[in-house]
Amino acid sequence: MKIITTIAELKQALQAEKRNEKSIGYVPTMGFLHEGHVSLMERARKENDIVVLSIFVNPLQFGPNEDFETYPRDIERDENIARNAGVDYIFYPQVEEMYGSKPSVTVRVESRTDCLCGTKRPGHFDGVATVLTKFFNIIGPDKAYFGLKDAQQVAVVSGLIEDFNFPVELVPVDIVREEDGLAKSSRNVFLNETERQEAKELYQGLLQAKKAIEAGERDPNQVAQIVENHINMYTSGTIDYVEVYRYPELQPMETLSGHIIIALAVKFANVRLIDNLTLTI
Ligand code: PAJ
Repeated sequence: MKIITTIAELKQALQAEKRNEKSIGYVPTMGFLHEGHVSLMERARKENDIVVLSIFVNPLQFGPNEDFETYPRDIERDENIARNAGVDYIFYPQVEEMYGSKPSVTVRVESRTDCLCGTKRPGHFDGVATVLTKFFNIIGPDKAYFGLKDAQQVAVVSGLIEDFNFPVELVPVDIVREEDGLAKSSRNVFLNETERQEAKELYQGLLQAKKAIEAGERDPNQVAQIVENHINMYTSGTIDYVEVYRYPELQPMETLSGHIIIALAVKFANVRLIDNLTLTI
């Protein structure tokens, strides 16, 4: 496994691989790797000749009052995890390498962002789309792997790939959870012991909603209410949103049908967690 920090060096290495007709699978991350990231790397390992992992905490996708500075980082630990997962290249650029000076062009996402994290984190998805545009151009992957933990990100990236004609196939990967149901996240380390116990109730809330839908509930507001009630009852967190949409379009519905997403964000003292459940009715 090679660790590369410059764009020029990575391009050169990957051009050589492409000349040898190697297919390239790409896993973009912000590091502090966990089993969720590992499932993307393992899937990429199975489906490609070469696996490229990027580790870059992208300042463009953090708001002014968000956790860019404190976002957890541990490159040595990440290297070991990546090596064990069969990664061939880690691309680990510094901020100056990616954004030498203030960017003269950025990407603005026009749809699928007027809800969920799109409204709660203004500019977030523009930052994600901008950095991924750069990574797709630098790496030129055949396939790129994204987790459904960030279901809105998957929807946005699918629009980016289509609208900008990137010759890359998006591969969505299921959410990996802790044993008690909490979705794995780099940010879970910011939960204190009590909050960590409570945090499993986010998924329990989603499961309550699923149960109600299976029993015939079709009103999206009622479904959201079930999740909210559960979280308010069993956690000290503050609900940022619980919303129900058609997925991947992220359009509201009057009556639930087809493929839907129930998505939530909850703030604890030092961390904001997201989770979701998709299902077909
Ligand atoms: P990050 O939060 O590090 O996540 C990297 C990838 O891992 C994303 O596609 C995310 O959905 C996936 N992932 C995270 N937790 C997961 C889990 N529990 N199960 C399955 N997949 C999981 O998402 C980002 O970084 C950034 O926005 C990025 C795409 C790298 C752009 O900067």
